[in-house]
Amino acid sequence: MKKRVTKAIFPVAGLGTRFLPATKSVPKEIMTLVDRPLIQYAIDEAREAGIKEFIFVTSRGKSALEDYFDHSPELEAKLRRDGKTELLEALEDTYMDSGAIAYMRQHKPLGLGHAVWCARRLIGDEPFAVILPDDVISAEKSCLSQMVEAHAETGGCMVAAMEVSQQKTSSYGILDLKEDHGSIVSVKGMVEKPKAGTAPSNLAVIGRYILTPDVLKNLNKIEAGAGGEVQLTDAIAAEINHDRGVFGYRFRGERFDCGSKAGFLQATVAFGLAREELGDEFGQYLSEMVAMRSAAQ
Ligand code: UTP
Repeated sequence: MKKRVTKAIFPVAGLGTRFLPATKSVPKEIMTLVDRPLIQYAIDEAREAGIKEFIFVTSRGKSALEDYFDHSPELEAKLRRDGKTELLEALEDTYMDSGAIAYMRQHKPLGLGHAVWCARRLIGDEPFAVILPDDVISAEKSCLSQMVEAHAETGGCMVAAMEVSQQKTSSYGILDLKEDHGSIVSVKGMVEKPKAGTAPSNLAVIGRYILTPDVLKNLNKIEAGAGGEVQLTDAIAAEINHDRGVFGYRFRGERFDCGSKAGFLQATVAFGLAREELGDEFGQYLSEMVAMRSAAQ
């Protein structure tokens, strides 16, 4: 019987330089879309997919992230006294069961592959998920839930994939396809950030993975690759060389690159408009802004 995916690694040890100076003191994952930090969206997605153990790979300056998951008895008591049930529920979403959350330290930002490797001792002999909180995905059924279901059929390693334009392929890990079955594709190669004109397809890997413990073993041997960092893509691609299955999954949903300023702003607009209590007022404001801008041009 295939083992269920119950553990997820959240690599959050990056420097977040694209958001300086904010990220000098605020971890990128604590930055807020409407009223919830990016990390909350990632946790909700993981919970929906059945994840029970949450492993954070953190670094210096990320204490706000650890504090975020603490209980806050005073705040809770006040909200209860004031009968603010909805806010109380929002607060409860931030709590983690005792023992369900673990923190590992990545002492130097040596790359995503290295960050995942730092958590190796907390992963047993079972497949595990990796979630990058700066990729926020809006979907009816969460992206990771879709992947967990698909993975129950395929086994092996699975990466979330989406089509990007040819010009953008050099910013992503790109899949070289063996067979295309629609939602699920089998993969015969993966290249991290291929040079312009050399990408094997326009199917890009984004920040959701289901991996086997073999990938952690591969990471033991992998040297720094593209950009001088230890690339997770290289460790997954090594599975193909060992004749073990690697699959891409075309998820249903919209992905926002909240690691970039433009993506973060787009997500703010999309999530703001989707909120019942804000959508009308915010939508009207945006229409007026756009009309004013066009008139001025
Ligand atoms: P990014 O490539 O977005 O890098 O990392 P970054 O440092 O967060 O941001 P910029 O590019 O300087 O603005 C993708 C994910 O991998 C994690 C990051 O925290 C983010 O979730 N990461 C990256 C690590 O945990 N450790 C690393 O050494 C590198």
